[in-house]
Amino acid sequence: MGKLRSIYICQACGRQERKWKGKCPECGEFNTFVEEIIQERFIEKNLGKSNQHAQRFSKIETYQEDRLQTEIEEFDRVLGGGIVKGSLILIGGSPGIGKSTLLLQVAGKLSDLGACILYVAGEESEKQIKMRGERLKLFPENLFLLTETNLESIIEEAYKISPDYIIVDSIQTIFSAKLDSFPGSVSQVREAAVELMMYAKQNEVTIFLIGHVTKEGMIAGPKALEHIVDTVIYFEGDRHHNHRIIRAVKNRFGPTGEIGVFEMTESGLLEVKNPSEIFLQERLSESPGSVVTVCMEGTRPMLVEIQALVTETKLGMSRRMTQGFDYNRATLLLAILEKRLAYAIYREDVFINVAGGLQIDEPSADLAVIIAVVSSFRNAIVPSDTVIFGEVGLAGEIRSVSQAETRVREAQKLGFKRVILPNHNRKGLERLIGTRTIGVRTLEEAISAIF
Ligand code: TYD
Ligand code: MG
Repeated sequence: MGKLRSIYICQACGRQERKWKGKCPECGEFNTFVEEIIQERFIEKNLGKSNQHAQRFSKIETYQEDRLQTEIEEFDRVLGGGIVKGSLILIGGSPGIGKSTLLLQVAGKLSDLGACILYVAGEESEKQIKMRGERLKLFPENLFLLTETNLESIIEEAYKISPDYIIVDSIQTIFSAKLDSFPGSVSQVREAAVELMMYAKQNEVTIFLIGHVTKEGMIAGPKALEHIVDTVIYFEGDRHHNHRIIRAVKNRFGPTGEIGVFEMTESGLLEVKNPSEIFLQERLSESPGSVVTVCMEGTRPMLVEIQALVTETKLGMSRRMTQGFDYNRATLLLAILEKRLAYAIYREDVFINVAGGLQIDEPSADLAVIIAVVSSFRNAIVPSDTVIFGEVGLAGEIRSVSQAETRVREAQKLGFKRVILPNHNRKGLERLIGTRTIGVRTLEEAISAIF
């Protein structure tokens, strides 16, 4: 048994301090430090006991990871091509977004493929889960449900059943009797994750941890676990949309940035094979402030609608609001518009929205955002058969972006007649059947080509 020590831990980001602080120096949140008792047993256990030796690089043997496809393609893609045996995967998202639904469906598939799954339910009863399963039309033969929140009992049960997969729903409800702090605190959540990680690696069992993320990020959560687990997947957007987007933000066994798109239906999450269609579904074709752009999500091109609303400021300071697009980037783009083209944006409130709840963090959407703002400002329509993409530099120049051809082909596939793109990117794309490409060098050129 190690020595007990009391420390203060920020419940938002997991930073540790010896004394209580009002504001966290790391994440800047206020009032998030909570006293927790920890045991210095890790330090003790590991002191001077290592039997690892340095190995020559050339002598290290590599191997192909053992991957299993769940046959839910959108899920497999986000994982980097299937589930890696023995990995620890965190699935985060706001309450009600569909974490339990997704993993129950995954469990159903895995069971059909002959694997044995242990579903640890800390929030719902067996009956509730069974009812959800019936609604999803799942009849998994090899799925075991365990309603338990005590970490030691869970691991004991796991040794008895020896499943191939474990699903922990949710990590915030699990607590270890070894620690004094309350369930859901950073110490408890971490302890549970570390113990489960060891179990996963020793027994080659894949473990899925479900974690809640609140808007404020207040409850100790997934953020504090990101560096412990192998893979982190987050649900994006909110539950008011019909479709759900999952994205890998960390993956030790594959690329990040890939997204999976689902639609929440009466009978669970359905895969969306062609997201562009979904994102453009509800677009009003002839409305000022609406622009279609194409961004790359991992390896997939995706058409999305950018909307801007520019209205005269009524009270003092003008307001800027963005949804799905970086706020600072938007302010920068407005400044470019103001300086380079002398638009009096400072007198206007500007709202920018990416339709469909997608989060875009690619500079290739810059030009579309600016054009959407100009379109709303001038109350002029951007023709609905036009797709626009390109990065905008501080001098108002249009810079080239990666994978232009893939983007243009996606626009062509969905029947768009005109693509406005960086001039540099146009090379080789001059002659496309049914779609005209227009290369632009500056913002002025882009605006005169469009309006
Ligand atoms: P859930 O998976 O329980 O969310 P989480 O575990 O992330 O908190 O999903 C909750 C929502 O999904 C709930 O509002 C009901 C809805 N839902 C459907 O629309 N169809 C379904 O088949 C299921 C199972 C849930
Ligand atoms: Mg749930």
